[in-house]
Amino acid sequence: MKKQIKNNVSWVGYIDWELEQFHGDDYSIMNGSSQNAYLVQEEKTVLIDTVWAPHSFEFVENLKKEIDLNDIDYIIVNHGEVDHSGSLPALMTEIPDTPIYCTANAVKSLEGQYGKHNWNFNVVKTGDSLDIGNGKQLVFVEMKMLHWPDSMATYMTGDNILFSNDAFGQHYAVEEMYNDKANQCLLWKEAIKYYANILNPFSPFVTRKIKEIVDLNLPIDIIAPSHGAIWRDNPLQIVEKYVEWADNYQEDQITIAYDTMWDGTARIAHEIAREISKQSPDTVVKVFNVAKMDKNEIMTEVFKSKAIAVGSPTVGNDILSSVAGWMAFLKSLKFKNKKGAAFGCYGWSGESVKVIKEKLADAGFAVVEPEVKSQWNPSEADFANIPALVEGLLA
Ligand code: FEO
Repeated sequence: MKKQIKNNVSWVGYIDWELEQFHGDDYSIMNGSSQNAYLVQEEKTVLIDTVWAPHSFEFVENLKKEIDLNDIDYIIVNHGEVDHSGSLPALMTEIPDTPIYCTANAVKSLEGQYGKHNWNFNVVKTGDSLDIGNGKQLVFVEMKMLHWPDSMATYMTGDNILFSNDAFGQHYAVEEMYNDKANQCLLWKEAIKYYANILNPFSPFVTRKIKEIVDLNLPIDIIAPSHGAIWRDNPLQIVEKYVEWADNYQEDQITIAYDTMWDGTARIAHEIAREISKQSPDTVVKVFNVAKMDKNEIMTEVFKSKAIAVGSPTVGNDILSSVAGWMAFLKSLKFKNKKGAAFGCYGWSGESVKVIKEKLADAGFAVVEPEVKSQWNPSEADFANIPALVEGLLA
């Protein structure tokens, strides 16, 4: 169903209440999501992005209820990832000659995924524009690495709308459409989770790109991303947050992540948590068993933290696979300016703490000493290093 956004601009996307996982199973969806596509009906009719392939039939049929597909003058593909381009093949079978405006990398992405169909691609770069009549233009801004090499945003003059694609989005189903109508706790929880788990590795690009957009001095009344709520109430608030988040963001928080075999490593985790609260009562402390808790939610807490402590018992001269997998994910998110400490129990050989320290350093964390290592069950003597470890994390 078409929903008007402003003047002749409407939302024609898909609100995905059933979605539970995204990027395969690599991103948990707790509050639904949406794939936002937009229809601009000025003198020219323009479709901006589509929706994920499983919803392509419904997407095309809904569009047909609103317009004659042959009336679409231009299609804008801001990003080739399948959640936004997945309905393009179905649409193009109906209107195969319609010009598609996208970046050169998006052509590679679309032809790589869907094959070469001689679609009418028109490659655009930052600053290129498209006249859509009624005195309005679409201006293209390449958003390379936000978050793929092909990403771009489209700015509509006159109505001052920035169609930002993934940037400024959230995996959050908002039937009410707008940021001012959405539940504020969920909106910001999902916005920061999205940044931490998807955009954080590209923070240097975020900083540069936002400066470039701000320097263009364009009036922005609405930021319409491709997921979640549309920012119409003080839309620049999410831009300001991105500037903050991209600058090695951290709060007064320490996150403890561990897995355990016979509860010894869990006991050390909770003892570290108690010591943090004792030494620094205002510091927020979070404790997660990485085998049981959602990894994306944990990473959001890591993103907010100034330091982390990671624990695993020794097994097979190494660490538990749950912790190893979690630390591989940790490394991929390229956190900066954070400290890390290691702890764990062992029965015989005891390599886990050394392995964790190596992985923390490899993930870009400043490793704090001393470690906390306990043979068999942790005793008061084993806890003796915890105050110094916590001092190191808090310093
Ligand atoms: Fe929402 Fe990069 O796709």
